[in-house]
Amino acid sequence: MPPSDFKNANIDEIVEKLTTEEAINLIAGVGFWHTHKVERLGIPAVKVSDGPNGIRGNHFFMGTPAKCLPSATALGATFDPELVKTVGLKLIAEEAKLRAASIVLAPTCNIQRNPLGGRSFESFSEDPFLSGIIAAAYVNGVQSGGIGSTIKHFAANDKENERFGYDSIVSPRALREIYLMPFMLAQKYANPWAYMTAYNKLNGLHCSENPTLLRDILRKEWKFDGMVMSDWFGTYDVAGGVNAGLDLEMPGTNKWRTLEYAGRSLQAKKITVRTIKERAKNVLNLVQKCAQGAPEILDGDGEERTLESEEDKELMRKVAAESIVLMKNTNNLLPLNPKSLKKVAIVGGNAKAFVVSGGGSAALKTSYFVSPFQGISDVLAGDNVEVTYAEGARTFMNLPTLENELYTADGRKGWIGTWHSHTSDDSMEPIEEPIADRYIDETRMFISTSTPPGITKRWTLRVKGFLKVERSTKFEFGLTTAGRAKLYVDGNLVIDNWTRQRRGDSFFGTGTVEETGVYDLVGGKEHEVYVEYLNVRGPADGDEDEQLMDSNPGVRLGGAPVQDPEEAMAEAVALAKGADVVIAVVGLNADWETEGYDRTTLALPGRTDELISKLVQTNPKTVVVTQSGSAITLPWIDEVPALVHAWYLGNPTGASIADVLFGKHNPSGKLSLTFPKREEDVPSFGHFHTEAGRIRYAEDLYVGYKHYQHRNITPLFAFGHGLSYTTFSLSNLNISKPTVADGELSATATVTVKNTGNVVGSQVVQLYVTLPKTSLLTHPELQLKAFGKVKDLAPGQEQEVTLRLDKYAVSYWGETLDTWVVERGSYGVSVGFASDAIALRGTFEVEKGFEWNGL
Ligand code: BGC
Repeated sequence: MPPSDFKNANIDEIVEKLTTEEAINLIAGVGFWHTHKVERLGIPAVKVSDGPNGIRGNHFFMGTPAKCLPSATALGATFDPELVKTVGLKLIAEEAKLRAASIVLAPTCNIQRNPLGGRSFESFSEDPFLSGIIAAAYVNGVQSGGIGSTIKHFAANDKENERFGYDSIVSPRALREIYLMPFMLAQKYANPWAYMTAYNKLNGLHCSENPTLLRDILRKEWKFDGMVMSDWFGTYDVAGGVNAGLDLEMPGTNKWRTLEYAGRSLQAKKITVRTIKERAKNVLNLVQKCAQGAPEILDGDGEERTLESEEDKELMRKVAAESIVLMKNTNNLLPLNPKSLKKVAIVGGNAKAFVVSGGGSAALKTSYFVSPFQGISDVLAGDNVEVTYAEGARTFMNLPTLENELYTADGRKGWIGTWHSHTSDDSMEPIEEPIADRYIDETRMFISTSTPPGITKRWTLRVKGFLKVERSTKFEFGLTTAGRAKLYVDGNLVIDNWTRQRRGDSFFGTGTVEETGVYDLVGGKEHEVYVEYLNVRGPADGDEDEQLMDSNPGVRLGGAPVQDPEEAMAEAVALAKGADVVIAVVGLNADWETEGYDRTTLALPGRTDELISKLVQTNPKTVVVTQSGSAITLPWIDEVPALVHAWYLGNPTGASIADVLFGKHNPSGKLSLTFPKREEDVPSFGHFHTEAGRIRYAEDLYVGYKHYQHRNITPLFAFGHGLSYTTFSLSNLNISKPTVADGELSATATVTVKNTGNVVGSQVVQLYVTLPKTSLLTHPELQLKAFGKVKDLAPGQEQEVTLRLDKYAVSYWGETLDTWVVERGSYGVSVGFASDAIALRGTFEVEKGFEWNGL
């Protein structure tokens, strides 16, 4: 019988037949990515995979080359649910099939309380409505391809430091209206097959054992009938999760739900077999959906594959371009016309760097990558424009990885690793004879579970390659490890990250800080680079424990020539002087913005700000392109004529940036989050960090633009902002009289958008609602409740846009009543092309108020 036969199984009968042991096995994963299979009953295992900007597959280490999509903030910036749905189907569901995964661990639907949040890039927006609508589109796209979507992290997982234990203290109203709203909308419009609980506590209780969240809200109120899984190692006991409604513990390594622990909980009557079977039934229902949705995966060979059609590449390039935001464009400096250029200076640490996505579980191995330098040069090559390049100022946090610089004895890019068992599981002595060797084309080796079979518990990895530089230079190496490691060059010890260590944030918080060492490389000479790694953490001040890294072993080698910052800056300025235009590409990368820790500043790294100021003083025709997944501060903004914000865009990065810079694509992206002038202006400033493990969500409802409006603080760039190469007008706001029946409300607003400029362009109409001032409650002044995108409007052409309003547009959460409330009264409607560019205002009346629950 093929495994997919399970699609016809009678789940109730199977649950009846399950032994207690089988039921316990079913409610925890197997390895990192699979569910448990029970051959006796024909129950297949299914595979899950991250998520959300692509599908990584099984391996963090030497993973399968994949499509990397724009970060979620970028997808949010498209304000285009139709496009995001297509992405879900064509680039996520199809990609999951190539990776033999039935379920994707995406989308991430948390909220940017503060752009410093390490994973801000991974969620769609600071606005709950935009987040929810885009999330629903994503889920619908994925699930229409027969692949399950796991919406995450449920809920209030809005920062990274101390993420396993912090307690998000959120008022019931803010919880409902802000933090649960994206999930609620996705639930209403897309019904995800699965939810992933957040690591943190919510109002005193961990989310993975929180009955209010999992039972009362999710299952009872929202009628969710799918499966709930924990985040990885985010299950903290047996009974709490089982009783609250956590169906599946993930992963299956180092798990709580073993026969022993679950058995003891049963014996102590903390849980019952009946509850375990309820949990198991939800797992089985999910497995059945997988068998029905994409049976070919279950019946397939399980191999991970890479495949890209030209059509896929075009779509990726288009989505990336659609998300780019034209922030500023004085005197229409952009788009650039290559025909009128002779010399272009490309400057900045991000221009040639590999910057595709934020870091952590969102990171994956891309199948191809176009750097900004490459994308821009490709366009200019056609017109024989001279392109020069200088780094100017460094933007990386850790020294860049060296896979493209190292080579093997037989001339391949990368190096060769040999794995060595030890003389016993507990021994620190490696056996000389390797048990496996492997060609490795990466120098960030997050080995995770990818160790050779049969290896002892403690093991050693030795990696060797060669490095040659053109000109003699002092070269700085960096070595980071979860375990312990040493670097030798030409047999000389250059870095000892072994004997004494300094704990850091690397490798999901289990690794060290980056230790560095400098070595003189001789031009033209072949230098041998050798790293010895052991999967046991070394002693550190304040923590002498030599812990075995059984889940997250890793080592990372980086390096770059030692640079004189003054010389680097002077070189860039000199290039700028003689150029017709300067394109500066600067920003963050996956080390600055990542899972595991938060950023400590909104400022761009190192001397970037100084560089931009110097460039623009030297050459007023300086276009700045910024890359970051969330907000950054831009102190030079008044000096520069043009700014393009390019998020993290995945494989086609440079091609899409060039499409916008040279006008092949007329930008229409809108900021999915506010860019503040300074950190102190951010709503959660002063209470973003934990105090004794607690985080007070003291800004309450005033998240994002709602705060800036409430306090009358002018941001650097407002939520919803984004320019175009054409201009638009907005007129004729008509709002229908709402109809109210059976606890539902329905009204429409129509407006006319006209392209008043000279080129074809797209525009986003944003509708904000103001709740009536009839109650004793305070409401944010404007709340996004509808939006629509007019696509490819020709010059002079106009189009009517219809925006639908329902009960969500007029409701607030009544804390004392524990219900959604719609008040009788007059509602304000503000329509514009940005939250700070309201062009039309109107009102509508709700004649009879009502209350509601559910969705
Ligand atoms: C992340 C999840 C991810 C999981 C599996 C966790 O560290 O928080 O978002 O899906 O790992 O990689």
